Amino acid sequence: MKIAIGSDHGGFELKQHLVPFLERRGYDVMDLGTNTDESVDYPIYGKMVGEAVRDKKADLGIVICGTGIGVSIAANKVHGVRCALCTSEFMARMSRCHNDANVLALGGRTTTPLMAEVIIDEWLKQVCEGGRHQRRIDMLNEM
Ligand code: RB5
Repeated sequence: MKIAIGSDHGGFELKQHLVPFLERRGYDVMDLGTNTDESVDYPIYGKMVGEAVRDKKADLGIVICGTGIGVSIAANKVHGVRCALCTSEFMARMSRCHNDANVLALGGRTTTPLMAEVIIDEWLKQVCEGGRHQRRIDMLNEM
C-alpha cells in the first residue's frame, strides 16, 4: 500500500519521525515534503497530498502542520478527499469506520510522536463499515 505524506515546517519534525516508522511497517511511502524546518505555506502540502490520493498515485495520505487544522482544510478542498484531523485513537477509528477518511491530518505541535504512531496504527487497520455510513459518504462525494 502506498501512503503519500506531506507537512509544513510545523509538522516537519513529526513527518521525519513518521516516514521511517511507516516504512518499518512495510508501507511504500511517498514523501512530498517539506524537507527542512524553514517556514513554508501549509496549503501547498495539504493540496499536494490530497491530489496524490485523488489521482490514485497513493492509496491514502497523511498531512501534518502545527495543529493539523490548516493542512486538513487544504486537503479537503480536493474533490474526493475525506481528510480527518485526529487527536485520539477513537477519532482515528471512527474516521475510517464511519467517514472512510482517505487522508489523516495530525498536529506536529499537538500530538507526540508516540501518540501519532498509535493513531496511525489504528487508522490503517480499520475499514469503513458501509451501510448507512456509505450513504452519507456518497453524499459527501456528491458535494
Ligand atoms: C505555521 O506556523 C502554522 O500556522 C501551521 O503549521 C498550522 O498549524 C496551520 O494550521
